[in-house]
Amino acid sequence: MITAALPYANGLKHIGHLAGAYLPADIYVRYLKAQKRDVVFVCGSDEHGTAIPIQATKEGTTAQAIIDKYHPIIEQNFKDLGIAFDIYHRTSDPLHHTTASEFFANLEAKGDLETKTTEQYFDETANTFLADRYIKGTCPSCGNTEAYGDQCEKCGKTLSPEELINPVSTLSGKAPIKKSTTHWYLPLNRHEDFLRNWISKEHADDWRPAVVGQCKSWIDGGLQPRAVTRDLDWGIKVPIKGAEGKVLYVWFDAPIGYISATKQWAINNNKDWSPYWNDKETKLVHFIGKDNIVFHCIIFPVMLKLHGNILPENVPANEFMNLEGDKMSTSKGWSIEMEDYINKWIKKENGGEALADCLRFYLTSIAPESKDSEFTWKGFQDAVNGELVSIFANFINRTWVLMHKLCNGKVPPIHPTLLDDEDRAIMQAVKDTKEKITNLLEQYKFRDAQFEVINLARLGNQYMQKKEPWIVAKQIGTDVDAQAKIDNCMHVCLQLSANLAIFIHPFLPFTAKKMCHLMKVVDKILEWENAGEFNLLKVGYTLRAPELLFRKIEDDEIAAELAQLKANAEAKKIKMENTTTAAQDNAEKGIAPLKPEIVFDDFGKIDLRVGTIVEAKKVEKADKLLELLVDLGFEKRTILSGIAMHFNPEDIVGKQVTIVANLAPRKMRGIESKGMILMAEDANGKLFFVNPNETIAAGSTIA
Ligand code: 2FM
Ligand code: ZN
Repeated sequence: MITAALPYANGLKHIGHLAGAYLPADIYVRYLKAQKRDVVFVCGSDEHGTAIPIQATKEGTTAQAIIDKYHPIIEQNFKDLGIAFDIYHRTSDPLHHTTASEFFANLEAKGDLETKTTEQYFDETANTFLADRYIKGTCPSCGNTEAYGDQCEKCGKTLSPEELINPVSTLSGKAPIKKSTTHWYLPLNRHEDFLRNWISKEHADDWRPAVVGQCKSWIDGGLQPRAVTRDLDWGIKVPIKGAEGKVLYVWFDAPIGYISATKQWAINNNKDWSPYWNDKETKLVHFIGKDNIVFHCIIFPVMLKLHGNILPENVPANEFMNLEGDKMSTSKGWSIEMEDYINKWIKKENGGEALADCLRFYLTSIAPESKDSEFTWKGFQDAVNGELVSIFANFINRTWVLMHKLCNGKVPPIHPTLLDDEDRAIMQAVKDTKEKITNLLEQYKFRDAQFEVINLARLGNQYMQKKEPWIVAKQIGTDVDAQAKIDNCMHVCLQLSANLAIFIHPFLPFTAKKMCHLMKVVDKILEWENAGEFNLLKVGYTLRAPELLFRKIEDDEIAAELAQLKANAEAKKIKMENTTTAAQDNAEKGIAPLKPEIVFDDFGKIDLRVGTIVEAKKVEKADKLLELLVDLGFEKRTILSGIAMHFNPEDIVGKQVTIVANLAPRKMRGIESKGMILMAEDANGKLFFVNPNETIAAGSTIA
């Protein structure tokens, strides 16, 4: 059961994301499938959390529109780069909502969760609690002033809003107040012994040191109950009575998305999903970036254990990949989006899939498996030109050209009596390479494994250089063995090519496919058990004419990319400065920022009526409250309003006002208030009634 982190469907994803989770996962899955192991590879869009509505506000649209826009783009980007998920699901899917709700309800019913009422940050202007990315401040760990309430994107530290220094609302830009609210918590503290044993004892040696290190420091820092619900209106409703207005925390529902994706895959393929999450024999592996470690190694395992599922056997998290000397960041324009690479490189030319493999190759060759690494366009050019073109493609091309020239385009026979040490050394090298690559892939060392494939091609070139079949060809007629020597050399090179296709396939699937085309074989040849064999291509079989596997990357292409990158970053900087200035200007003028957009249906739910105030008096021991009796035409209602500091009761009797007539009743100071009076507020905080410009019948509707 292989999972790759569900990307937020709030924007395009860059090649750092690709290198961090999806590419290594795909390589691993292709390798497992080549071994004919029973494997399911799931991924999909993470469509909840504050990241989605925040993007909706930025784009001036709805959260639903955002996920509907980005989900299909990201899914297609992965396909174009050869990432072959068995399913790319969505957490907005009803199957996921049901799965996550049931999961929560199950833990709640067993007493595995606890509730707590605490004071949390609240934005008075936006009238909302400030969960996760709705609050920003300074990271207590690295000093980054742009850290979010759930995580610092600079140092990766998981945070809670209370930890932020100088917190401000990202909705209004104002400092928040504290307000009491009740939430459900996962008491991680109850599971400390389990986590300590499981990570520090069972997996101290087979998990990556950085993963174990991060988990240990989290546990050593003291495990706290972790809130798994939020006061938000975007997400999966908490399936408990009395929890209206609350949704599951995105990091509670998202990993359950792996399970719902598996369920949907099983439905699509007429299979049973359950063994993949419940059978102790199943090996579960999560591919993620390092900012997701805590969620996959601490929180989700506790949830899985409580729910009775299997635990991950490994979580091979990658470090970050930087770009040309700086951190990759879409918002700062310092990134290469998968979409951009696809449009600029892959889609622009015939056979562009080879360029998908070029990117895969370079990213794996600099995979940040043990420390942060760096993508440079020059590095990309060097890797493609220096290794893929000059070594790998060169060997295949020479083999094909010579085989056509010296062996009539057919697989030549082998002449055993003429086999020499060099032939035997190559055959042995193929067997050794199989063992090395297998071991490395089993240990999630993709970078080293890919290096071994190129190394084998390098040996192939050296072998051919020593054998010089083009020189031997000149001795035909004088040396009776000349053709037999050529046959042996070309036979070895062809069988080596077939093996290279098997080895390169997990890393560069489009290339492996093209090699199958050149060899005129079906891709069944790529099964792992065939690796190491020297009879993969049948003697006498006619092969296709040579075709180049890769083209060179030119200097001007690299220069253009570098110029584009700088231009993008500059454009984003100017845009950001303008936006910030506009926001600051508004704040200085006392203009409140716009709330997130709503759809017409949201507005349609509000019943607004004209009412006339018939009685008004102060509420005892409440400085701010007035108790009003309002005539709505069809009834008179008591409504409490926080306007006592602004109006004398006797001055407002007879005034017409606008009432939210269908607001749920609320008790304050022992008095039930049935509705709300709308007020306008100017920049100085002065209040005004909102009423028709002439007196009209009480109860008139407003729409
Ligand atoms: O960090 C992220 O992009 C998250 N959307 C990853 C979620 S992984 C899983 F839990 F779904
Ligand atoms: Zn930080």
